[in-house]
Amino acid sequence: MFEKLIPKESEKKILIIGLGQIGHSNAEYMTSLGLHVDGFDINKDAITRALKDKVIQKAATDFQGYDYYVVCISTHKPEDMFVPYLDGLVDIAKRLTYEGKTGALVGIDSTVTRGTTQEVKKILGHRLHVVHVPHRFFVHEKEEHGVRQVRVIGGCEPCCIKEGKNFYGNLLQIPLHQVSSPDIAELTKVVENSYRYLEIAFAEEIKMVCDNSSLNFDELRDAINTKWNIEVLDARDGIGGHCLPKDSQMFLDFSRNSVVTSMIRAAKMVDAQYRFHLTQRAAQEVPLARG
Ligand SMILES: NC(=O)c1ccc[n+]([C@@H]2O[C@H](COP(=O)([O-])OP(=O)(O)OC[C@H]3O[C@@H](n4cnc5c(N)ncnc54)[C@H](O)[C@@H]3O)[C@@H](O)[C@H]2O)c1
Repeated sequence: MFEKLIPKESEKKILIIGLGQIGHSNAEYMTSLGLHVDGFDINKDAITRALKDKVIQKAATDFQGYDYYVVCISTHKPEDMFVPYLDGLVDIAKRLTYEGKTGALVGIDSTVTRGTTQEVKKILGHRLHVVHVPHRFFVHEKEEHGVRQVRVIGGCEPCCIKEGKNFYGNLLQIPLHQVSSPDIAELTKVVENSYRYLEIAFAEEIKMVCDNSSLNFDELRDAINTKWNIEVLDARDGIGGHCLPKDSQMFLDFSRNSVVTSMIRAAKMVDAQYRFHLTQRAAQEVPLARG
């Protein structure tokens, strides 16, 4: 009688799909743990960089034969980084339906809209397990706030969460906060970034009021922040990058039918107004009222 050989966890194979900032950092971390990591990306430069940095063993040409698929692709429109876009993720799920290994785990690290993780499971017919473990990566603090920091995990089914906790928790040693559904995990990330968006927009609003009243924003901010439970953020060049604008848009799209008045919508208008304010002041060469 044949005894089924169970590969040791360290011999299992990981495929990182999407080798940008998040995928590359994931690959670097997993490789540093001595795990077998391959990579896939539609961008040749991303693959070349990962190979050159030796964070992946090889560039995969298909999705066959992996135990863990970690999805790290961008989720904004290629031509407009402020607009959510999930077609790439759906295409990957469709490809996994015929190339993915039965019983393997699909971990979605990318930021996605509510319902996306369940949609991926539906496309896969639950032949593979699916969890969502949104990233909280901060490039300037890779040690404390890189791959290995407290992360939220939500799985489609109990077996999915079991596999997800084994991979992210045991194998990758990431401290996990488990939630009851992937929908909560999806919204956790989207709301975190919406919250941050609101905080920055409020700082921008105060800055505009100060500038238009000949008051020093920095001095006011310093004074306010002496209070133990308040931290007014700085107001800089407008809310950029692809994460905060896109993720707050995901929340706005989700909340559209639930609330009439949206603080996020107002914050987006404030940010647009602030950018205009900056260009106007630059054109008038008005020195910004700073300390
Ligand atoms: N960068 C961060 O600080 C950060 C933090 C938390 C969450 N996230 C989220 O993680 C995801 C990835 O972010 P990023 O900063 O790494 O983006 P990125 O633009 O640096 O990299 C994304 C990579 O995905 C590749 N890609 C896009 N579509 C693909 C497809 N269909 N198949 C294969 N590869 C594909 C791109 O070529 C690119 O190399 C996004 O959803 C983002 O919101 C990013």
